[in-house]
Amino acid sequence: MAGIPEAIAAAKRAAGYQAADMVEDGMVIGLGTGSTVFHMIERLSGRVRDGLSVAGVPTSYQTAMRAREYGIPLTTLDDNPVLDLAIDGADQIDPQLRMIKGRGAAHTREKCVAAAAFRFIVVVDEAKMVSRLSGVVPVETIPFATMTVMAQLRGLGCRPFIREAVKKDGPVITDNGNFIVDCHFEEIPDPAALEAAIAMIPGVVESGIFSRFTGNTTVIVGCEKKCTVLTSADVVP
Ligand code: A5P
Repeated sequence: MAGIPEAIAAAKRAAGYQAADMVEDGMVIGLGTGSTVFHMIERLSGRVRDGLSVAGVPTSYQTAMRAREYGIPLTTLDDNPVLDLAIDGADQIDPQLRMIKGRGAAHTREKCVAAAAFRFIVVVDEAKMVSRLSGVVPVETIPFATMTVMAQLRGLGCRPFIREAVKKDGPVITDNGNFIVDCHFEEIPDPAALEAAIAMIPGVVESGIFSRFTGNTTVIVGCEKKCTVLTSADVVP
């Protein structure tokens, strides 16, 4: 992973590998998106070569391409509406295991896949663990309604910006053909309430706040030596 300091890359790799080792024979799993999931795919491909039978539902074109390249059989939510588990990365996770996702604009499919899974395994490096969620919440919007959605998002207390593409002029277009509005919040005192309020705005497809999976979430915090594993049992009410 060019550009990522080696210690962080090692932590991501350790978390990804540990998650891949939790996959059992015959499982149908959600394949998240991002650099940490990439390590999980790498490790899983070795297990598939060794005879593990598994099928993955990819959450992005990027993950579908990588999984194909690494020999992981793919399937769809149409054919497998219920998944054994989903493995994904995150941008921020708070002590209640609520999180923000969507740096890579894949959070809509990621949330659909997480919702379809019995168990949600999230792989991160330690820098993603925060005491309170804050900062940028990505929101996928349909292009037709984006300006009026932004006006309503401002009413929720954020500064919204349409995400610009890097090697294309104009906005990022998601895998679903939509825009991303990055909403800058000074603080997010109640993530579940904010997630619900954003979801109420017509024209919003999905926000990057994941507050409803805490009960079946396992977080693997990568470390070069030993990963830390957190579940809802570790949450202090
Ligand atoms: C994709 O849109 C995101 O939700 C990623 O899953 C998240 O940003 C984590 O990515 P990294 O593992 O690359 O940090």
